[in-house]
Amino acid sequence: MLRRIDWIILWLIALLCPIITSTAANTNVTGPTVDLGYAQYQGYFDAQENITSFLSIRYAAPPLENLRFQAPQPPAVQSGVQPATQNPNICYQTGSGTNATAPVSSYGFNKRQSVTPPASEDCLFLNVFVPGTVLEPVISAGGLPVLVWIHGGGYEAGYAAEDNGADLLADSLNTMVVVVIQYRLGAFGFLSGNEIKAQGALNAGLLDQTFALQWVQDHIGLFGGDKAHVTIWGESAGAGSVLQHIIANGGNTQPPLFYGAITSSVFLPSKYYYNDRVPQTFYNEVVSMTGCESSADTFTCLQNVDAETLQTANYDLAGSAFYGTYVFVPVVDGTFILERPTVTLAKGQVNGQVLLAVSNQNEGNIFVPVDETLTITDYVSQLFPDMSSLQVQEAAYIYQDYGNALEQAIMVVGDSIFVCPTYYLLQTFTGRSWKGFFAIPPAHHGQDSIYYFNSPSNPPPYNNTQFITAFAQSFMSLAKYYDVNRKFDPTNITPYWDKYDIGETEMLFNRTAADVPVVVPFRTDPAQLQRCAFWSTVTSMTAQ
Ligand SMILES: *[C@@H]1O[C@H](CO)[C@@H](O)[C@H](O)[C@H]1NC(C)=O
Ligand SMILES: *[C@@H]1O[C@H](CO)[C@@H](O)[C@H](O)[C@H]1NC(C)=O
Ligand SMILES: *[C@@H]1O[C@H](CO)[C@@H](O)[C@H](O)[C@H]1NC(C)=O
Ligand SMILES: *[C@@H]1O[C@H](CO)[C@@H](O)[C@H](O)[C@H]1NC(C)=O
Repeated sequence: MLRRIDWIILWLIALLCPIITSTAANTNVTGPTVDLGYAQYQGYFDAQENITSFLSIRYAAPPLENLRFQAPQPPAVQSGVQPATQNPNICYQTGSGTNATAPVSSYGFNKRQSVTPPASEDCLFLNVFVPGTVLEPVISAGGLPVLVWIHGGGYEAGYAAEDNGADLLADSLNTMVVVVIQYRLGAFGFLSGNEIKAQGALNAGLLDQTFALQWVQDHIGLFGGDKAHVTIWGESAGAGSVLQHIIANGGNTQPPLFYGAITSSVFLPSKYYYNDRVPQTFYNEVVSMTGCESSADTFTCLQNVDAETLQTANYDLAGSAFYGTYVFVPVVDGTFILERPTVTLAKGQVNGQVLLAVSNQNEGNIFVPVDETLTITDYVSQLFPDMSSLQVQEAAYIYQDYGNALEQAIMVVGDSIFVCPTYYLLQTFTGRSWKGFFAIPPAHHGQDSIYYFNSPSNPPPYNNTQFITAFAQSFMSLAKYYDVNRKFDPTNITPYWDKYDIGETEMLFNRTAADVPVVVPFRTDPAQLQRCAFWSTVTSMTAQ
């Protein structure tokens, strides 16, 4: 199933992993100091935005040496006051978002920084953004709603500096506390196999996210946030992560870590059992690529290789995967993730009480190379090697009227890995979920995010204030009130938005050819639901 791919994968991963800039932190200007007990951090107050940011708060011990491939551990006590004014080092990336070529910026990702921080294995940090400068006055009133952002990038790329939490806070008119987290990526966060199960921690990157959510429970009150009012949100693999937390612990995480959940273009790749052929093969590959093959204890050998050696294997393996697929992703581990996501979702037992799920009109395009020459049956079997030939034939039959082989492949990957998982979530959250549809042409994967990570210095391609307000504030209404219909800004033009189960209602976010915003409800295309009905019958073979 592996095949060497060309530079286009770099371009693709760069798309998923926008490079952004650091909010120019002026270390001459000070902000308030917060005492977390284990460390004190002094933030940076931006008077123009009226926002204080605390960048690079360490939420877990550095996952180095004996802690590599292990669950995150509490950070050590640090004396003195740490300046919290620079974005954290980024976790090791594959495909390297540092090789940003022209197509990336033309896709309008949410970047407004010029410098990407260096990569380091010591990357378990989070950023906190609060209104004004005073941290705790709202606590007597319960505190401000908290929004936690989980970045995307295929579980192999992405970082906090690319997604500026101040933009989200501004979308809420400075009425929340925003937290942006990092987590281990690629082989560092998602290496699987029998050896990891026996001696380490599977899904370490997800455990990092959970640890960060527990940090929010323990500390966000010090920033004026209400730990009982937490919404988690992400895009692509960030939304996939939200889905993981929804189904974590069989959908019954105690105590609960969040109430609201938002998924933007949820990414649900094959999620194998931790020692299935595919993840075990990748473990063995990493072992041989790092010179650990002859070791009697390959796990300990892998813990001891230097980070750059492991990163080289990580990077090379990621690049070798079938185009548009990802090597190191969450697995079913039997303890935190108990079963395939669709199994838990079908039982209706989930973490989180309300859901806003958004998808884009053309999710699949960037995951299929434009010069793809496979027939649709070959494409489906490459994407999902465990599907039977009968199932592959059925898929080919369903997609036969959707253009040429390339267009069909684009539909297949978009439906199976992004769009249909969105509808599975909506089914589970019946009566407590809303569906949004981003359609500004070309409406590719990732193109929506700049409409909420927007700022005057980083306007989106369709720079229409009414549109931006309507779209961005939908997320904020969910996070603030758990209700997209409750508004906090009279200029928000979004009409009444029925829950999804009421007539399969979705809210369309588009513009006319004459540049007028289009924000209107519509009913899901029945053909879409029929295609998803097919995919929902083969989830044991697609490992979803
Ligand atoms: C970036 O990508 C281009 C196009 O694929 C390639 O020619 C170049 O060598 C890459 N640069 C680095 C630093 O990897
Ligand atoms: C700055 O934010 C604080 C906290 O929300 C608020 O009380 C204050 O009025 C704001 N100042 C300005 C100038 O908007
Ligand atoms: C985007 O729109 C805002 C508000 O109308 C305007 O102030 C700004 O100049 C516009 N930016 C660009 C680059 O057009
Ligand atoms: C979005 O608007 C464009 C015109 O700007 C139109 O071509 C396209 O069909 C619309 N998409 C949807 C889903 O309505």
